[in-house]
Amino acid sequence: MEIVVFRDPGEVGQHAAQMFARQIRSNPKSVLGLATGATPLPMYRELIRMHRAEGLDFSEASSFNLDEYIGLAPDHPQSFRHFMQTELFDHLNIRPERTHVPDGLAVDVEVACAAYEAAIAAAGGIDIQVLGLGANGHIGFNEPHSDFDSRTRVQPLTERTILDNARFFASVGEVPRRAITMGIGTIMESRACLLLATGSAKAEVVARMIEGPVSEECPASILQRHTNATILLDELAAAQLSGVSREPAS
Ligand code: GLP
Repeated sequence: MEIVVFRDPGEVGQHAAQMFARQIRSNPKSVLGLATGATPLPMYRELIRMHRAEGLDFSEASSFNLDEYIGLAPDHPQSFRHFMQTELFDHLNIRPERTHVPDGLAVDVEVACAAYEAAIAAAGGIDIQVLGLGANGHIGFNEPHSDFDSRTRVQPLTERTILDNARFFASVGEVPRRAITMGIGTIMESRACLLLATGSAKAEVVARMIEGPVSEECPASILQRHTNATILLDELAAAQLSGVSREPAS
C-alpha cells in the first residue's frame, strides 16, 4: 500500500480527484467505482470544478457505487442514489444510464445482486475504486467478519454502523438495518483502490488497517494485499500511525 498524508481533507480530496482525472484522461471509457459518506465530498467537489473549469469529460465513462440501503427509494433523501445524484452526477456530463447504484427496492434482492456483479463484469471491471472507511473498519458496507471472498450481497448493519449513520436521519429508528454492498472480493478485483480517511475519529481504525494484521475483524486490512492500493489521509487520521509507514505528501 502507498500511504500519503496531507494537511487537511481538502488536500486529500484534491489529490484523489487528480488520480481520478488522470484515469479518465488516459481512458475516457473508464469504469469508476464510487462511494458515499462525508469523506469523498471534497473529491467530488473538485471533480465538478475540473469538469466545469478544465472540461474534464465524463461522457464516455461509467460508474458503479459500492452500496445502497435496502428499503429506500432512489429519490429518498437519505438513499445513496439520491446522494450521488445531488453531490456528483447532476453536475457532470456522465450519462445517467451509465451510472449504477444497487437497487434498494429490488423485489428479488438475490437476483439484483447477481445482476450487479454481471454488470460490473460486462463493463470490463472497475478501473479505479474510491473507498471510505467505517469506524469499525468496514469498506462499502462489508462489516467485520465479512468473508474476504464475498460478492455483492445483502449485509445486515452492525449497531455501531447504524449509530454512526444516524446523523443523516431524523432518528436512529429510521436508519435501515440492511444494505446491499459490493463484496470484498468484488472490491479487490478493482484494478486500483483509493481509500480516503480524514479526521481524528478515523485515527484508530486507520492504524489497525495499515499496521494491524490482515484480519476479517478489520475488513479494510485486506487492502494490504491489493497490488495497487493507495491510502490518502489527513494529519488527524494519520495521528496513530507509528510513522514507519508514512510517506510525505508530494
Ligand atoms: C458508510 C458507507 C461507507 C463509508 C462510511 C464512512 O457506512 N457505506 O462506504 O465509507 O459510511 O462514512 P464517512 O465518510 O461519512 O465517515
